[in-house]
Amino acid sequence: MSFTRRQILGGLAGLAVVGLGAGGASRYWLGRRNSEAGHDYELIAAPLDLELVSSHQTPAWAFGGSAPGTELRVRQGEWLRVRFINKLPVPTTIHWHGIRLPLEMDGVPYVSQLPVLPGEYFDYRFRVPDAGSYWYHPHVNSSEELGRGLVGPLIVEEREPTGFLHERTLSLKSWHVDEEGAFTAFSVSREAARGGTAGRLSTINGVPQAVIDLPAGQIVRVRLLNLDNTLTYRLNMPGVEAQIYALDGNPVKPRPLGKEYWLGPGMRICLAIKVPAAGEEISLRNGPVRLGTFRSVANSDAAGEWPPALPVNPVSEPDMANAEKLNFNFEWVGSVSVNVDNGAPPSLWQINGKAWDITDKTCADRPIAKLQKGRSYIFELKNMTQYQHPIHLHGMSFKVIGSNRRTIIPYFTDTYLLGKNERARVALVADNPGVWMFHCHVIDHMETGLMAAIEVS
Ligand code: C2O
Ligand code: CU
Ligand code: CU
Repeated sequence: MSFTRRQILGGLAGLAVVGLGAGGASRYWLGRRNSEAGHDYELIAAPLDLELVSSHQTPAWAFGGSAPGTELRVRQGEWLRVRFINKLPVPTTIHWHGIRLPLEMDGVPYVSQLPVLPGEYFDYRFRVPDAGSYWYHPHVNSSEELGRGLVGPLIVEEREPTGFLHERTLSLKSWHVDEEGAFTAFSVSREAARGGTAGRLSTINGVPQAVIDLPAGQIVRVRLLNLDNTLTYRLNMPGVEAQIYALDGNPVKPRPLGKEYWLGPGMRICLAIKVPAAGEEISLRNGPVRLGTFRSVANSDAAGEWPPALPVNPVSEPDMANAEKLNFNFEWVGSVSVNVDNGAPPSLWQINGKAWDITDKTCADRPIAKLQKGRSYIFELKNMTQYQHPIHLHGMSFKVIGSNRRTIIPYFTDTYLLGKNERARVALVADNPGVWMFHCHVIDHMETGLMAAIEVS
């Protein structure tokens, strides 16, 4: 593969960069120019001090002057154009999690593009085929880059009004910080060999114990995005009328949230919540622990109605009768031989007997599976470990069709939370040519082996 060198920022003519504080900024302007209609952003990644722990500074890295980063919005079917400017001290990229796009825009270093060096920029341009809640993050030195705050929501609005008059985006992230706001290790081998290295301070939109106002009596669309490196949130809201409208970007037939929903790293859930009477509060919890509070505030609008199901996305239906079956075994490598000397991450996990090495730029040259473009496949995902893994595929959405551990109502997604020792089946049409990453979204599992490439040609 060959790549053209990106331009150096200094050589950029005619780009007005205005009002940049230490943390950078982002601007956007919405435009509709016939078939090229789209949304243009300039997005800067830069260091930013945050006050996550009161009276202490945390040296975060931010997209667009906030962490989590600026919420990018685009309409389904239109172009998203992002001039990404790297003002960090390290190389990086942006990956657009869950978006079906051309490989050159996928943000994977040495597969899609070269890393964007400090002071350089890269223009991302692609059409977004599916409506829903997505997100963006680097795919370089991920445990540190995501850990320091380089994660942000990407919302793709439906073409037509959906009936929701109110909505909120809640980005969940827990930070690897101590009591004084200093970063602690983003990845520790003994944790990476287990459930992953967890942060200690939970936040919603960057705020610990956030309070979010909702209009009393209304039905509000609440998009919950798990942008965390490690944690699976066991989401629940006791005593609230809430319906699930979409999972990981794709609509489902509305159904009650129920007791608890396990939202693994990288996953999203779109809920409709009926807001109780003014003055009442709803607690949003992770298991028994409160993450934040919804506060109902008076408003004069007539009580809201439950909107109909969201329109389905144009994802191809797999041809089950003629689908080829492929097995993927996710394994733990028993002996943890940490190579402290050369600083390389240990190899702890494997897919079908192969561990990905993030220090080897040629891994993607050896795909774990080669799919024929246009053909349907059924992947049997077999978790042979005692830990759960949110299994994510780039470039294509897949349909979850079965599991030996739970009842599945088939749905399309880009990330499936594969439970301990679970076997699940997912199906897809290999309709997007490229070399696509297939990995666990517990970031330190991914960085210690649990990643592979799948080629479609
Ligand atoms: Cu969120 Cu490789 O992806
Ligand atoms: Cu992804
Ligand atoms: Cu994992």
